[in-house]
Amino acid sequence: MRIFRNSLFVSGLLLSLFLTQCNNIREGNPLNPNGDSELALLMRMMNDSTASIKEYVKQGKLPEKFPEAFLKIHTAKPTDPTVKTEEFEAFANNYIDGLRQLYQSSPNELKANYNSLVQRCINCHQSSCPGPIKTIKKLKIEN
Ligand code: HEC
Repeated sequence: MRIFRNSLFVSGLLLSLFLTQCNNIREGNPLNPNGDSELALLMRMMNDSTASIKEYVKQGKLPEKFPEAFLKIHTAKPTDPTVKTEEFEAFANNYIDGLRQLYQSSPNELKANYNSLVQRCINCHQSSCPGPIKTIKKLKIEN
């Protein structure tokens, strides 16, 4: 009984750690005493790079180089290893497909394909990490 209660406590602690991890972008000062996970760092980089891609797309352009670093989404270690489910892999593939489509867009498809890519970020977050969705939505190009 005691052991049961202890493990309940520990999983509660891990869960709340994960939920705070997934709250939003944190500036410096990691909440996780073990430092930020590879996946969290990659996500922050993806968030910043996508904000820069947005500025290009608004001018009808794209950065010259395909962001190869984003492909690490499949291998980067998350804070909580249990997020790496089959569903995660499916959402990750869907996201990478969207990225390739964006880079193959004709000029008149750029904006729609860009917004579809941002939606693919959100789709994965709805299933594995809802905290940052509000931040991610700001990446969309309105109208
Ligand atoms: C396949 C699923 C998936 C996709 C696609 C995805 N994310 Fe994430 N994202 C996650 C998970 C899981 C975490 C939690 C990472 C951790 O704490 O280890 C996360 C964390 C984040 C964070 C918080 C990082 C921090 O500081 O802790 C931001 C911001 C973020 N993602 C933005 C994005 C953006 C922008 C995109 C699209 C360009 C995107 N994500 C695509 C699953 C995904």
